[in-house]
Amino acid sequence: MENTINLIVKDRKGELHKIQAPTDMNLNLMEVCKANELPVKGTCGGIASCASCHMYIHSQSIELPEPSEDEEDMLDSAYFVQENSRLGCQIYPSNEMDGLEFELAPEDESE
Ligand code: FES
Repeated sequence: MENTINLIVKDRKGELHKIQAPTDMNLNLMEVCKANELPVKGTCGGIASCASCHMYIHSQSIELPEPSEDEEDMLDSAYFVQENSRLGCQIYPSNEMDGLEFELAPEDESE
């Protein structure tokens, strides 16, 4: 379908989920995961201030927009951060991201 891309999401139990995301509805990856009933909290509503949408991006061949300063600041204080960490709420699916694979980072138990 036009304006829809496929994503592969690994949940925290290691299960893979093939989901689709619209590229024309201004939904970010956190919202797309929630809409697919994946366990992403999105506590701050998507303003890069809670890290409950923390994800690990596994697709190396797909270039994502650089993180903003706010996203980098939030990731600096998040738990379980890796080199491929991003905040799902700061990534808006585009046609170039078709096939993107990512994984939900462990939850911060102190939340
Ligand atoms: S939803 Fe809070 S940082 Fe993404």
